[in-house]
Amino acid sequence: MDRIIVRGGRRLEGTVPVAGAKNAALPLMCASLLSDRPVTLRNVPHLGDIATLAGLLGHLGVAVGFDGHDPGGGHAGRVMTLTAGRIADTTAPYDMVRKMRASVLVLGPLVARCGAAKVSLPGGCAIGTRPVDLHVKALQALGAEVTLEGGYIHARAPAGLRAGEIVFPLVSVGATETALLAAAATEGTTRIVNAAREPEVQDLCRLLVAMGARIEGIGTAALSVEGRAALGGAVHDIVPDRIEAGTFAIAAAITGGDLTLAGASADDLRTLASTLKATGATVEAVAAGLRVVGPARPRGVDVMTEPFPGFPTDLQAQYMALMCVAEGASMITETIFENRFMHVPELARMGARITVHGGTALVRGVAGLRGAPVMATDLRASVSLVLAGLAAEGETVVNRVYHLDRGYEHLEAKLAAVGAEIVRMREAA
Ligand code: UD1
Repeated sequence: MDRIIVRGGRRLEGTVPVAGAKNAALPLMCASLLSDRPVTLRNVPHLGDIATLAGLLGHLGVAVGFDGHDPGGGHAGRVMTLTAGRIADTTAPYDMVRKMRASVLVLGPLVARCGAAKVSLPGGCAIGTRPVDLHVKALQALGAEVTLEGGYIHARAPAGLRAGEIVFPLVSVGATETALLAAAATEGTTRIVNAAREPEVQDLCRLLVAMGARIEGIGTAALSVEGRAALGGAVHDIVPDRIEAGTFAIAAAITGGDLTLAGASADDLRTLASTLKATGATVEAVAAGLRVVGPARPRGVDVMTEPFPGFPTDLQAQYMALMCVAEGASMITETIFENRFMHVPELARMGARITVHGGTALVRGVAGLRGAPVMATDLRASVSLVLAGLAAEGETVVNRVYHLDRGYEHLEAKLAAVGAEIVRMREAA
């Protein structure tokens, strides 16, 4: 497996292009299942998870085409056109789903369009038990009959889904997306109560509107979806990846650097921005995106992860790397996933002082970290080790980086371009 080797101590300076959001692209790709017309997505990131889902959609009968060149101009990412003229298969097999949890997002569109779907229970990052009960409840609220057989979720609605009311007991990004995808292709008005408000959910709403659904309340916790049995095609620009941008913002902060995150949305990153300012960084919206200038040494500032617009759980590990070298202590509380501190023992190998108690980590800042061989566990934990390596003295070797490639496009190239000393050792090397 590939390894990433970082030599710390370099100040990062320059401009980093922000890719299209992975977590937006995945549900957007699944929306193509709802129409027999082409859905074209622009600014698609080059990532392992995108290829995995494209493979699954291809298996279901979707024609997936890539075009590296955007005739509209100005879009750095690839252009992908998905055409689901005919659904050839309504089963998402274990082998394909286990690689990535977001594969469960094909369930809603398949049952809405075909009246039946069989989707393996997902795998993905091991950051907690991560059930799919809320996805199931959403479909049941629309009249689907759902059973669990042999590790597969079977959903059936032979006479089609019925519009209804979906009330979520807790905020789930994925389950809100399942609800939206199913409701958009179901005639009548469906209300979604306690919906997730993440920018990626809003992006899905915008595509479904372009395909012919009517959605009110976009960006709020109360969505009202007027669906149509036959949705049309659309051309859609994917929102910038706020988690990638946030990761680079922390890279600037941890190296005392000065990075401009080209294309980043300041609004989508407002909680991280205010937190970084409290640590002593300068964060400002500029014409190109967002500029972050790191302090000589950050101050310890507490955070608690929350659904959007709160502090994102997907930046918790990266922020912890920053707090490891802060002046003073900070308390980092994870409220979304119960097992998302797997980076803690790895950071400790580099000299961090962290005590975990339940969902809270107490980080006592140290004057400096030291490079060490470390092991990547999940996607965001992996990148936190790279960030720690940027600030550490000496060499950090991050092993098992395949998780990184699921979510970060050309990470080492982007970091090297702004001054980091970072290389990838291919397995064969
Ligand atoms: C998405 C993101 C992930 C991010 C997470 C929270 C994608 C592809 N992934 O994941 O990067 O960390 O949002 O911002 O967009 N839950 C249930 N039952 C369910 C579904 C979820 O109990 O049926 C729980 C989860 O275990 C978790 C919480 O709800 O504790 C939130 O999870 P959710 O928002 O659904 O995360 P994902 O959509 O899986």
